[in-house]
Amino acid sequence: MQRRTFLKLSGAGVCSSVYPIVGATASNVINITPKAGEINIVGPQFPATQVWGFDGQVPGTPIRVKLGQTVRATIHNALKVPTAVHWHGIRLPNAMDGVAGLTQPPIAPGESFEYRFTPPDAGTYWYHSHVNAYEQVGRGLYGPLIIEEESPPEVDRDLIWMIDDWRLNDDAAIVDNFNSGHDRSHAGRIGNVPTVNGRFRDSVKVRKGERIRLRLINASNARNFALTFGDLNPTVIAIDGQAIEPYQSSDAIVIGAASRVDLIIDMTGDPRATVAVVDSFYRESFELTKFVFSKEILRESALDKSVALALPTLPTPDLANALKQDVVVAGGAMGGLKRAQLDGEWMGLRWIAQQGYVWAINDVVGNKLDMPPLIETKRGTSIHLNLRNESAFPHPMHLHGHHMKLLSINDKPLSQPRWVDSPLLLPDQTMELAFVADNPGDWLFHCHALEHHAAGLGSLVRIT
Ligand code: C2O
Ligand code: CU
Repeated sequence: MQRRTFLKLSGAGVCSSVYPIVGATASNVINITPKAGEINIVGPQFPATQVWGFDGQVPGTPIRVKLGQTVRATIHNALKVPTAVHWHGIRLPNAMDGVAGLTQPPIAPGESFEYRFTPPDAGTYWYHSHVNAYEQVGRGLYGPLIIEEESPPEVDRDLIWMIDDWRLNDDAAIVDNFNSGHDRSHAGRIGNVPTVNGRFRDSVKVRKGERIRLRLINASNARNFALTFGDLNPTVIAIDGQAIEPYQSSDAIVIGAASRVDLIIDMTGDPRATVAVVDSFYRESFELTKFVFSKEILRESALDKSVALALPTLPTPDLANALKQDVVVAGGAMGGLKRAQLDGEWMGLRWIAQQGYVWAINDVVGNKLDMPPLIETKRGTSIHLNLRNESAFPHPMHLHGHHMKLLSINDKPLSQPRWVDSPLLLPDQTMELAFVADNPGDWLFHCHALEHHAAGLGSLVRIT
């Protein structure tokens, strides 16, 4: 079967639900069991897909707490393999970061581990496995993590869309060629079945006049999205969990792997209308999902209330006294990288590729989690990063334990600098980012195209 066949199946996936996410926890004391499960992704004409999920579901049990509450999540590993859970985007103590092999030992099958942390920032986050993530996240081990604002904007519904991209065969089974050499050296694992909350081509019922807060979370191994919403005019209110001055976007909304975007959408269509949500990041565009208006009218014109969130109060980096660091990302297929250092020794890329690695940051292959740090600094230092992508592929660059202020792209200062934790660095692009290194510990800074990370696109920031 051709990889794109599912995208062309027009009849598949007519489940017509409103994306129920079952079992939303209202509590901050949570027990979660990663285990094998079965979900129907592609629709009734196809068999169910065997997955790994938190509590056997994909997405896993949503965690929703109020700002200020302490999360106590006990993970009971019912998989046959070790795992660990990373709380993506949360500024938390290093020992709770969930990077097995760096911040904790893996949780063995049959064992449990309690994560305990108090998120300091409201917003849209997610949690996912951080052991062989290219396989464990690829099989479904992820879930939403929502930290509620004290006074969120008034909306009729608050929806979470966890977007993913599966590689399925014609029996709807996961193709288990995880971390293939091709995926490692090219764009990462790009699948053939894009889903929202584990469903291919579902639809979402809406009512005219309804105001929806839509929390987009890209849980794909490597697929990036650029979404348009027909003639609905979404207002962007937060990126990577952090509030921004709201703006209406007429361009496609780009959401790289691991990133989040919060939108407010007023459902201005007429009863029984259909609005397709279309992705156009890669050459071929496709319909991800659609809104279907019921005959019910909730209100004739949009709610006349502010959609703005309180802006983040993160520590401001002191650029005049910052530690400057270039971060040059290179390697991969069609890249110019010829040699790099592996375990401290210079080698030709052919030799490095024979060991399974194809990427480097500043000519250093990130083949270990506990490698010598790219940056080592005292707590409180401002760090000013200059990222440059010298490769032919996009890289969503994720820093653990901090948010970074995105100051400029291709030397053009942003009119509204914004806080990010997973900015998407496009081929040939440069980005200037800054943050205060205020969270002690060893933190990963890596590409969230999970096959790229596995193939050496990672580094460490040590804060003492
Ligand atoms: Cu979302 Cu290192 O992870
Ligand atoms: Cu990458």
